[in-house]
Formats: sequence, C-alpha cells, structure tokens
Amino acid sequence: MRKNIVAGNWKMNKTFDEADELVSQIIELLETKELGENTRMILCPPFPYLEMCTDYSNESYFSVGAQNVNDNEKGAYTGEVSAPMLASMEVEYCIVGHSERRAYYGETDAIVARKVDQLLKNDIRPIVCCGEVLEEREAGKQFDVVKRQITDGLFHLDAEAFGQVVIAYEPVWAIGTGKTATPQQAQEIHAFIRGLIAEKYGKEVADNTSILYGGSCKPSNAKELFANPDVDGGLIGGASLQAEDFVNIALAF
Ligand code: 13P
Repeated sequence: MRKNIVAGNWKMNKTFDEADELVSQIIELLETKELGENTRMILCPPFPYLEMCTDYSNESYFSVGAQNVNDNEKGAYTGEVSAPMLASMEVEYCIVGHSERRAYYGETDAIVARKVDQLLKNDIRPIVCCGEVLEEREAGKQFDVVKRQITDGLFHLDAEAFGQVVIAYEPVWAIGTGKTATPQQAQEIHAFIRGLIAEKYGKEVADNTSILYGGSCKPSNAKELFANPDVDGGLIGGASLQAEDFVNIALAF
C-alpha cells in the first residue's frame, strides 16, 4: 500500500542553530504524539544541515531529503552536489523539479529526467514536483502542463524504477501565496496524475505511488486535503518551518 508522506521543504531558511532547534522541537512533539502507522515524515533541509538531520534521524522519527542534486555524477561543477555525495550521507529522498528551480535556475523536464536517473542510480528516492502557473490554470491548461512534466521527466523509467518515485503536485499559484487549491481541485488533478501512471505502468504501480499536494498547506486545511482518495500527503514549505504546525499537518491523516 502506498505511504502517506508529509515532507518539509525548508527552502533557503534558517541558520544552523535555528535548524537544530526546529528538529529537536519536532522530535520532542513526536515523542508525545504518534504519527499514523502508514505515515512517513521527511525533512528536506538546506545542504549544510543534512548531516545534522540524518544524525537526529537515527532516532528514526523521520527520513531526510535534499532539495536539489546535480544531474552529473561528479567532476568540475563548482558549488554543486552529486547524488553519490547525498547517498554517502544517508540521504534517502531528494526533491527534483521544484517550480522555484524551474523558474529561477532553468530546470527543464530534460534536466529533471537526468537528475532522477542520478538519484535512482544511487538508491535515493526522487520527489518530483509538477504544477501549472496561474496563467496556465486560467487558460485551462493545467492537465496538459502536468502531463508534459510527468511524461518528459519520468516516463523514460521502467516500472521498477518508477516505483521508487514520489510525485508532488504543486500549483505554482498556491505556493507561498496563502491561496490553497480546493480539495476538489487537488483531487481532480491527483486522480489525473494517477491515471497517467496507470496508463503507462498499470494499475498496481499507480496505486502504489504516493502523490503529494503542495502549496499553502497548513494545519487548518491539511485534513480536508488529505481526506481525498488520491492525495497521499503534502510537500510543505512555510508551515514546515514551525515544529508544531508541521507535526500537526503530519497528524492530519
Ligand atoms: P508553501 O507551503 O510555503 O506554499 O510552499 C510549498 C512548496 O513550495 C513546498 O515545496
């Protein structure tokens, strides 16, 4: 059965001490409130804090993910971080194709595909983001956009490799805006994504794929979003920077 996942994407926030405090607060809360048996929490801190988080995660409350990876294995790419480096630090997940990386750093579907390959080669599970911008939604193009992102970024994989992938649908107009997709909007596109996967890989693979929602998800709306049959959790930005909010979102299943 597919997992419910609540992943915190800290983006470029927090100093080391603040990050350390956040993680200890999360652990403290998790010591008193138990997550659902089928729920996995993932923390995706900035690169410099990965080791601090994996050290804590030895206590096994959460998994650790990176926010980005380079699409090459190694070499003269100053400032970049490779999948083998992440694997050597016990990082289990990595976000790929976030809309901020697509918009500010030219991450195309072809680059997403290469990053996914690098990650899978190193046994790291990609959390692949897709989602339309406001103009595309207003023009009714959200299905075409998401289909292209999923097809070009992921459908070169065989079924076994695809089985390692987590998908995050993040409508760009909902990210950091306080404007959340309605539960109906989320369910509609999540069901569409699952349908695409079923067409390509069959129903079993589709049923086993976790599809997360991202975009202004918070404790007050998580429950109604996660109650949808095809919404398997969330990729959380702002609300993941606050321990109580983040844990409450994870308790919303
Ligand atoms: P917010 O939760 O801050 O809207 O961010 C969502 C996001 O981009 C997570 O990757």
